[in-house]
Amino acid sequence: MDLETLLTFDDILLLPQYSDIKSRSEVTLSSKISEGIELRVPIIASPMDTVCGTTMSKKMAEFGGLGIIHRYNSIDKQVAMVSEASDDGNKTVGAAIGITGDYLHRARELISAGASVLCLDVAHGDHLLMHVALHNLKDKYGHLVHLMAGNIATYTGAYALAQLGASSIRVGIGGGSICSTRIQTGHGMPTLASVIDCARIKDKFPDVKIIADGGIKNSGDIVKALAAGADFVMVGSLLAGAAEAPGDVIHQMGKKLKSYRGMASKDAQMDWRGNVSSLEGIATVIPYKGPVIDILQGLENGIRSGLSYSGARNLNELKENAEFVRQTQSGLAESNTHIKWRYDA
Ligand code: XMP
Repeated sequence: MDLETLLTFDDILLLPQYSDIKSRSEVTLSSKISEGIELRVPIIASPMDTVCGTTMSKKMAEFGGLGIIHRYNSIDKQVAMVSEASDDGNKTVGAAIGITGDYLHRARELISAGASVLCLDVAHGDHLLMHVALHNLKDKYGHLVHLMAGNIATYTGAYALAQLGASSIRVGIGGGSICSTRIQTGHGMPTLASVIDCARIKDKFPDVKIIADGGIKNSGDIVKALAAGADFVMVGSLLAGAAEAPGDVIHQMGKKLKSYRGMASKDAQMDWRGNVSSLEGIATVIPYKGPVIDILQGLENGIRSGLSYSGARNLNELKENAEFVRQTQSGLAESNTHIKWRYDA
């Protein structure tokens, strides 16, 4: 076997480039996800039931990003969540749907309620059932909404979804912070390598957007994903724990916590379908993080600074200028804060 080495975020760094950017405010992060829908920041909240409900979706839109309201509830409940969002004049409301059963009915109701982005949200998107659902949705509603489809990991997976009319593609299998798909199934691909591979479809489908999804831990990873070919990033753990993420604050041993769980974890599967099939995620608690606007502002500042290090005034220039280098484990240790505190009195 002659195996390719595939890298992910911690394996690489972007080389600093000459920059004449005098202030981070000279940098723009905005880009169109669809005709008529422009995001000010390239960040999308994941359709998970501990990440994005109505409140998170509103805050994401207010900040200039996008939230995808999760699908783990009845059609009526999800429709109510979408309407409450869109009633406030929010034009960028995303909602997730499945690819079997009542998905066409759900899609119709969500579009009537004001959803402008429908996310066909499944674990293995390079699948016959996804292809059939995407074909049907494109045919019926493709003129009305943006169709986001995924997740896939490879060029061929992305190519198939683009050919069927996906407006954007979620790229990443098994890299999420709460994912155990790779352990449970032996399948997956390092997320950054997936993004690089899938972004090659741009030669044929320049308007189809690539969304890096899973394993993004900080603004540095966001910059790397955008430089490697992603148009947007989708994040779960970075936003979970925020005041606006669904779920109450848990008080435990003097600490404030919130729950964060993979949608294929035992907890989540029991809650939304009453039984467990393949366990491909975990449920956990994470520290409560306060208002999401503070988290988003921190990420935006880091991304702006990142573009400045690449001498880039916008996301296209970032891709053009990007020069990647590989780092070793010692390089990674050096990249992380590593001060050794010693006090000899
Ligand atoms: P982060 O790293 O941002 O990842 O927390 C969020 C992404 O993880 C995916 N996801 C799952 N993947 N099992 C998986 O293998 C799961 O239970 C699961 N739940 C979410 C999803 O793509 C999300 O955006």
